[in-house]
Amino acid sequence: MKTHPLDALAQQLVAPDHGILAADESSGTIEKRFRAVGVPCTEVSRRDYRELLFSSPGIDQHLSGVILYEETLGQTGRSGRRLVQMLEDRGILPGIKVDRGVKALPGHPEESVTEGLDGLRERLSAYREQGARFTKWRAVIAVDEQRPSAPALRANAEALAHYAKLVQEAGMVPIVEPEVLMEGSHDLDRCRTVTTAALDHLFSSLKAYGVRLEALILKPNMVVPGKQSDRPATVEAVAEATVETLTRTVPAAVPGVAFLSGGQSPEEATRHLNAINLVAARLPWRLTFSFSRALQEPPLRAWAGKDGQVREAQSLFSHRVRLNGLASMGRYHPDLEKVT
Ligand code: G3H
Repeated sequence: MKTHPLDALAQQLVAPDHGILAADESSGTIEKRFRAVGVPCTEVSRRDYRELLFSSPGIDQHLSGVILYEETLGQTGRSGRRLVQMLEDRGILPGIKVDRGVKALPGHPEESVTEGLDGLRERLSAYREQGARFTKWRAVIAVDEQRPSAPALRANAEALAHYAKLVQEAGMVPIVEPEVLMEGSHDLDRCRTVTTAALDHLFSSLKAYGVRLEALILKPNMVVPGKQSDRPATVEAVAEATVETLTRTVPAAVPGVAFLSGGQSPEEATRHLNAINLVAARLPWRLTFSFSRALQEPPLRAWAGKDGQVREAQSLFSHRVRLNGLASMGRYHPDLEKVT
């Protein structure tokens, strides 16, 4: 049977040993991250930082794709090459975040719905021309005793499905990201219940819209207790709860699951990914990473805007990418943290 070209692209994004770098922080978000390390946020500093990441040695061994922010898609690096071209030359697929961020959900001001469907068809064809091969849309699901409401789950699932169908029609692979937030005092079980509900809503909308499941990547949260929870969970409990939740909700036709890190520390996210892959020996999908903070915190802190620190930052970034590549195969060990 001939493989559909979009299926092949989706499989490439979750190839063994490989994962995805999310470098798609909006200018507002990256400004906060730069401010924390004393870097002024300008178009040039954002460009320099992303060029540092994309030219790090060895990352092509473990990165299949990078999700970019719109601005980066059109930027040329200090080297004189377009940043997109730098990635392509290394065999790394360029992707693009296409949502326009979250707005309060009408009637539920404490919850949000992600916007950006207006004019999306036209934007997608422009992104495709600029070299994007895949896309991302993030929905945000807040958790407490009352949230999420049914309308919040429905509205976000519908928007994700509408987006995913448009993206496939434009010849790209959609990453669908329903993020259940870590903010809050909820425990592991509450995260499991909410993540199950979010994924159930998502897959029923994806099916209703006729989205091809073989040609998309799911980007969910891991099932973890909230940051303010007084009931911490072991690495093994997180891995089991995450795998059980996915088994109950994600169809086998989906080629891969690439987790967000969601505010976990870099080591924590890697340990969890590894343990998930150890539980998951016989599951139908690849289970890998699509981290932003958990890959970028060490290099950003080391760089702090200083040209003289570029090599150190790149080596920390390459190391983190490699460790997560190993974790995506269940081959990580905490002792490897020390070896750079
Ligand atoms: O939309 C969120 C990013 O793509 C993933 O970010 O790994 O820092 O949660 P994170």
